[in-house]
Amino acid sequence: DWTPDSFVEETVDELQNKLGNDKVVLGLSGGVDSSVAAVLLHKAIGKNLYCIFVNNGLLRKNEFESVLEQYEGMGLNVKGVDASARFLNALAGIDDPEEKRKAIGRSFIEVFDDEAHLIEDVKWLAQGTIYPDVIESVSATGGPSATIKSHHNVGGLPDFMKLKIVEPLKALFKDEVRRVGISLGIDSSILGRHPFPGPGLAIRILGDITSEKVRILQEVDSVFINGLKEWDLYDKIWQAGAMLLPVNSVGVMGDERTYEKCVALRAVESTDGMTADWVNLPYEFLQKVSNDIINKVKGVNRVVYDISSKPPATIEWE
Ligand code: XMP
Repeated sequence: DWTPDSFVEETVDELQNKLGNDKVVLGLSGGVDSSVAAVLLHKAIGKNLYCIFVNNGLLRKNEFESVLEQYEGMGLNVKGVDASARFLNALAGIDDPEEKRKAIGRSFIEVFDDEAHLIEDVKWLAQGTIYPDVIESVSATGGPSATIKSHHNVGGLPDFMKLKIVEPLKALFKDEVRRVGISLGIDSSILGRHPFPGPGLAIRILGDITSEKVRILQEVDSVFINGLKEWDLYDKIWQAGAMLLPVNSVGVMGDERTYEKCVALRAVESTDGMTADWVNLPYEFLQKVSNDIINKVKGVNRVVYDISSKPPATIEWE
């Protein structure tokens, strides 16, 4: 009989037997899976779990600082690494979506490898892999781990990838991971977080990436997401975000003609991300959020709402 409590109890036992006094390194993303994996491992081996949380400069507004603080508050042995400049450099001039993913994957590996080397005698690499990832990786063309594997085999694997792997959530579905998270006492602000792609805002900025575009999109996204929370819509939605389009359009402000950026808002319902329906958000909400975005975010003069479902459209635009 599977219950979250019994899963936690048995898994903590297994992890203690398997890992003994060994040191383990884990990359935290701010997402549900890696957070639950971290807390479970921390419960089993305490300070021998070394967590690394990398800021790639492509996270939501204030996300790095606030999530890092939350992890620290949970007692995790976590190191925040701000590598924003490194990622932005690696992305400079790139506008192809797959090239962006590769550049980000490579930069992440370099940063993570450097950090893992600072942990003396680390033996294990822990990952928040869940059951659907295991299935998907068989047929995957994209995901983050596939990117890592296909693009770092020149000159051998980075050292951290030679570590032994421990994946305590490998047999669980997403809803089970959330239930385990509740049983571990993890805050609902972490467990209820929408999925967010590893390459972050880089694949929501169509075309090439600059720090100014990242800033604009962070502001837009923050108005949208905070609006969804204020209107009690956030928890009813699988995933939401904004895309910065490589399009300027004419507008008018006071007596002035403007020629500024257009953003597309996207909100979808889904159970696994494989198929998705666009969400019928209330017009009053769209009206409010559109006004707020255009009034508050300099450089944006037009907002559109994406009414495409998956398939044939994907959730992300890149
Ligand atoms: P699509 O756009 O393929 O997205 O409908 C399905 C789900 O996957 C997320 N996604 C990614 N996640 N690395 C990730 O870690 C990626 O390169 C990536 N591309 C898409 C997307 O946000 C959605 O939840």
